[in-house]
Amino acid sequence: MSFDNDGAALTIIEEIFRLFESKGKTSYLGEPISQLQHALQAANCALREHAPAHLVVAALLHDVGHLVEDLPEDIAGRGIDAKHEEIGHEWLSKRFGPEVYEPVRLHVAAKRYLCATDPEYLAKLSAASIQSLRLQGGPMTESDIRAFETSPFFRDAVQLRHWDDLAKVKDLETPGLEEFRGCLESAILNVAP
Ligand SMILES: [Fe+2]
Repeated sequence: MSFDNDGAALTIIEEIFRLFESKGKTSYLGEPISQLQHALQAANCALREHAPAHLVVAALLHDVGHLVEDLPEDIAGRGIDAKHEEIGHEWLSKRFGPEVYEPVRLHVAAKRYLCATDPEYLAKLSAASIQSLRLQGGPMTESDIRAFETSPFFRDAVQLRHWDDLAKVKDLETPGLEEFRGCLESAILNVAP
């Protein structure tokens, strides 16, 4: 797929919109909101903090792995780690640059990192997130922490993780998907918004 003209950007954006239209109503894994609401809340957190377009898009699409693979809503409850961050990374890497797909790939590692380095973070995790943490390998070890901090996308992944955790509020008003079209275009074409 080519990323070098507006036509390609439009096609990818329509594909993303269709994906949310068809799968976005499924519930967000053990939380009281839908996948679409979760994505919009995360992206809106990024927008409110004046994050660059590629991180707004990473926030919007950080759980796209759940949408493209038709993973069961209660998959963590069945004791299975769906590796949705790897599925999302694979899907995004065909459509965006590493500044989008690497923070997405690392957003589960960022949770394991924060659980190991920030006791307050661990104390505030939702019940569903604690359940999936066990399946994801639990808090990082000392050597995992050091290795993770060398990643050029480490800070973006931690930031994305915070938006992810904030994006679980029932009935919160957010802008709709259309509000993020400009950020999607910028990220696909890899230009400043
Ligand atoms: Fe999420």
